[in-house]
Amino acid sequence: MSIYRMETKCEVETPDFSHLKPADFEHVYEPAEDTFLLLDGLQKEAAFIRQLQPSICVEVGCGSGIIISALSKLINQSALCIATDRNPYATHCTKRTAQLNLCQVEVMNCDLLTPLERRLQGSVDILIFNPPYVVTPSNEMKSSGIEASWAGGADGREVTDRLLPLVPNLLSQQGVMYLVAIRENKPEELMTWMSSLGLDSSVVLTRRAGPEHLYILKFYRDSSVR
Ligand SMILES: C[S@@+](CC[C@H](N)C(=O)[O-])C[C@H]1O[C@@H](n2cnc3c(N)ncnc32)[C@H](O)[C@@H]1O
Repeated sequence: MSIYRMETKCEVETPDFSHLKPADFEHVYEPAEDTFLLLDGLQKEAAFIRQLQPSICVEVGCGSGIIISALSKLINQSALCIATDRNPYATHCTKRTAQLNLCQVEVMNCDLLTPLERRLQGSVDILIFNPPYVVTPSNEMKSSGIEASWAGGADGREVTDRLLPLVPNLLSQQGVMYLVAIRENKPEELMTWMSSLGLDSSVVLTRRAGPEHLYILKFYRDSSVR
């Protein structure tokens, strides 16, 4: 098991996903640069996240399950952790990853947070989404298989753009959202849009990974408390 050492204090461990084999990654997103940048982002935010003492944490698009498992471990499993994915193979893998890492995660196979949206209103303290962000023709987005991991439609934004308007209503008063984006998704435009919905934003991390320029964006209610 590798451990992130970006800061002197090591807090975010890469969960064990050794149960996933190459054959699994034909059906579920294999942790990649974006996943590891998100883990780095959680490491950078570790002190803030712990101090928040979250009660409800949610990951949309959990894939292999390593992000929600890492978050659960970071907060010593002190919150209800929920993960969703539209790919049934991903929800199956996330359950196994959580079990292997002794984490309690409620996993649901659904589109975004559709069945949970009403119940979660105003109660999500940490919301995470590493969406399918690659610019593709819109008709590539029909699949709920591995293609759903990357096919983002116009500007790579079609899935992200369906979740973002729901975020102000989902977040608790102290809640924050972490979103992965690439330059083609127009991160500044995303931040301006969220501002018009009442949420402030900042860039937690940015990194060049091959052809991709990746961002971890953070959305929250009130900059005076960050
Ligand atoms: C880039 S992968 C990220 C996987 C994992 N969170 C990670 O960081 O490695 C995007 C994930 O979102 C899922 N996804 C795509 N569209 C979705 C939707 N409408 N609702 C829920 N999950 C979705 C995909 O199936 C895939 O598992």
